[in-house]
Amino acid sequence: MLKKVAFLGTGGTIAGTASSASDNVGYRAAQVGVAQLLDAIAPLRSALGGWEPVFEQVAQVDSKDMGWAQWSALAQRVQHQLSQPDVAAVVITHGTDTLEETAYFLSRVLPVDLQAKPVVLTCAMRPASSLVPDGPQNVLDAVAVAQSAQARGVLAVCAGTVHCARDVQKVHTYRLNAFDSGDAGPLGYVEEGVVRWLHACPTGANTGARMDWQRWAAVDWPRVEIVMNYVGASGASVRAMCAAPAIGAQPVQGIVVAGTGNGTIHQDLERGLLEAQAQGVRIVRATRCAQGVVVAGPATGGLAHSEGLSPVKARIALMLELMAEQQCANGQ
Ligand code: SIN
Repeated sequence: MLKKVAFLGTGGTIAGTASSASDNVGYRAAQVGVAQLLDAIAPLRSALGGWEPVFEQVAQVDSKDMGWAQWSALAQRVQHQLSQPDVAAVVITHGTDTLEETAYFLSRVLPVDLQAKPVVLTCAMRPASSLVPDGPQNVLDAVAVAQSAQARGVLAVCAGTVHCARDVQKVHTYRLNAFDSGDAGPLGYVEEGVVRWLHACPTGANTGARMDWQRWAAVDWPRVEIVMNYVGASGASVRAMCAAPAIGAQPVQGIVVAGTGNGTIHQDLERGLLEAQAQGVRIVRATRCAQGVVVAGPATGGLAHSEGLSPVKARIALMLELMAEQQCANGQ
């Protein structure tokens, strides 16, 4: 059977254009359609070997504006493509700013059996109009990963490095090599079209994926906020957040706190969080440190902790947990 790779476009800098080829910051993201973008990468056809490309524009946004509607559409289209027997892999072009959140979200919502095939997110730090864009090489590297026999599950590829959805984090504002996997390290590198794997890709089973997206699409997205600890942080923001919402506004159901160091929290902010928890708001402790996990101990008790997830990913995990509970409560 002829194998296909589905390219799903969502926008981002990779699809961005500037008025000058030397401008790598003053551009508009999400301007070029995915088919046109990839058509312009001359070596792509030969890199695909005999695999046939399929193009789908699922969204066209600067990823800072990514939201529930785009995620919902994306999850459904990825699931659809992975369900096709002749589609061997999905490659998603995405903005770098929230790529780690989309990758983690997909790793959690796509059915485990479908994650036997790879879903590779890729991106660019320079717009398509740049004198020296990085998008084309990233796409070629993503294709090499998508075609690798060892690839499975949701992965991110940028600057020749393969990351796991759970660990990948954007760590630089400007450099082409903007992503890092912290203590876990990358899963591998792409060198001249060949993937040098350092670690096995996680299976759907150990990413925690456990739901049927079709059932989830009907459930409301719960409101979960993030607060940060810093010098002089107080409980005032938490109290304001948890005050009775205006008519029609969604109440806060959860708060992730990006603590300092090993998840430490100013005593006044902690008082606010414990009050919120007593009112039924779910609180999760994470750290604002870019590396390491909150190591449980007497000083980190009283609040659930994020199991090594960054604050933004802990927020997604908490949202999904709340949605699962809501579904159970609705008897679905
Ligand atoms: C975006 O995230 O959509 C814009 C920034 C980027 O892709 O680098």
